[in-house]
Amino acid sequence: MLHRVQQTARYLGSPGADDRHAMETARILRQLGADEELVVAGILHDAAKPAHTLLWHRIAAVLLGITPRVRTRLARGDSTFARYLDHARRGAEMARDDGASERVVRLIARHHQRPVTDDEMLLARADREALP
Ligand SMILES: [Fe+2]
Ligand SMILES: [Fe+2]
Repeated sequence: MLHRVQQTARYLGSPGADDRHAMETARILRQLGADEELVVAGILHDAAKPAHTLLWHRIAAVLLGITPRVRTRLARGDSTFARYLDHARRGAEMARDDGASERVVRLIARHHQRPVTDDEMLLARADREALP
């Protein structure tokens, strides 16, 4: 757990990290043989992360990963932290509003839940591997 927090802090503290993460997720998905729709989901999966998410939000979210109920409760409301915690659901809504397919919308919505389908497993793997 501590290792993951340190890794996240090091990576996400640097400028442009969100864009790099999106592009790297897409690159890995392509390398794994994903089709274009899945690659699009990779590019968009974190698009709803608030621009001004502070480092401690991200670290707290990693720590809260072990208690999903607390995470759900904190994700209500409109604070930056709440929007960060709720970014999967919000990102899925944004993608739907922009005309993305149901497959893409669903992949984004579920990307912080336990992967069930082959698509979800590929996205989860790419998402994980796109953090150095
Ligand atoms: Fe995410
Ligand atoms: Fe991600």
